[in-house]
Amino acid sequence: MNEPIQMVDLKSQYLKIKPEIDQALLSAVEGVAYINGPQVKSFAKSLQEYNKVTRAVTCGNGTDALQIAMMGLGFKPGDEVIVPAFTYIATVEVIALLNLVPKFIDVKEDTFELDYDQLESIITEKTVGIVPVHLFGQCSNMETINAIAKKHNLAVIEDTAQAMGAEYIFKDGTKAFAGTVGDVGTTSFFPSKNLGCFGDGGALLTQNAELGETLQIIANHGQRQKYRHETIGVNSRLDTTQAAVLEVKLKYLNDYSAARQKVARKYDEAFANIDGFITPKKAEYSTHVYNQYTCRIKNGKRNELKIYLQDKGIPSMVYYPIPVHLQEAYRVYGYNAGDFPIAERLCEEVLSFPIHTEMKDEVQDYIIENIVNFFKY
Ligand SMILES: Cc1ncc(COP(=O)(O)O)c(C=O)c1O
Repeated sequence: MNEPIQMVDLKSQYLKIKPEIDQALLSAVEGVAYINGPQVKSFAKSLQEYNKVTRAVTCGNGTDALQIAMMGLGFKPGDEVIVPAFTYIATVEVIALLNLVPKFIDVKEDTFELDYDQLESIITEKTVGIVPVHLFGQCSNMETINAIAKKHNLAVIEDTAQAMGAEYIFKDGTKAFAGTVGDVGTTSFFPSKNLGCFGDGGALLTQNAELGETLQIIANHGQRQKYRHETIGVNSRLDTTQAAVLEVKLKYLNDYSAARQKVARKYDEAFANIDGFITPKKAEYSTHVYNQYTCRIKNGKRNELKIYLQDKGIPSMVYYPIPVHLQEAYRVYGYNAGDFPIAERLCEEVLSFPIHTEMKDEVQDYIIENIVNFFKY
């Protein structure tokens, strides 16, 4: 291999659309409206149209988006929010920051989503919301989650940071984009996300016009009109330059999803018959856009495989090595080892392999050959 293999190849992705991106960036720079420039409004509209939602609100990053969602929904200190024990820390961090109480729930071992079968058993009179995380690029079981939420009058915030462009498939066969099925969907435009910018960025999606307006106001210091602060808000903005980049890249999002799916299919076929190697399960209620291609490596071999591949110049990543309830900062909530056995086991088993939109056949062949060899000998 001439170039080092990477988990995500952002350089090749940029080079492929360089003239368009450079033009968009130059125009944003020359326009000098660096904050809230016309590109921000235009991108919010394009994002809204793409996702077929009533309102898309842009913000500074995916973590802010979660916080703004919880503020917009009126969650108050002491309220309980249900969140999977196996997720990226941001999902839980904002719950803690707002003095809400995270109520962890175990996950499904094959799809990595929160275990909706356990939801009803942890709902209390203090519960106000559920945050399904569409982990690694596939939607959680939204119809089941929404039905339980409706029954108990809870809000549903879809953490869609890893699943932009995935589609939820309803039982009647109709589809809706990830992040548009609950009350609010939040997302991140971190560079390695399926729709990534050249820095930080985020957004919220909602079908509720009134809530959408509230979210927009909160993201902008709680003001609708300049210097009239109707509610406590935050300063969370998508930069004009980032909006310019995203406007270009949104046009390619479906192609990007297809490219990731092609890489995943090839991996799926290559690894189908390896004992102790479990490829990602595809849920019947979602398409998968593979922000990560995350497998489960059984029999305690995960770390050995990781080191073996590293020696061959192949990166792999453990998303995530420690479940949230066992992270030091979150021990104050009183959870212990053994509370969420599947989340804890997944942290020992999961391994994510390189996947991105510009994967070359020869590179993927080399990765596959080495993984297969590891299990052969
Ligand atoms: C599941 C999930 N939620 C939230 C976030 C936070 O997004 P950001 O890094 O843009 O704040 C991420 C980012 O990695 C994520 O993966």
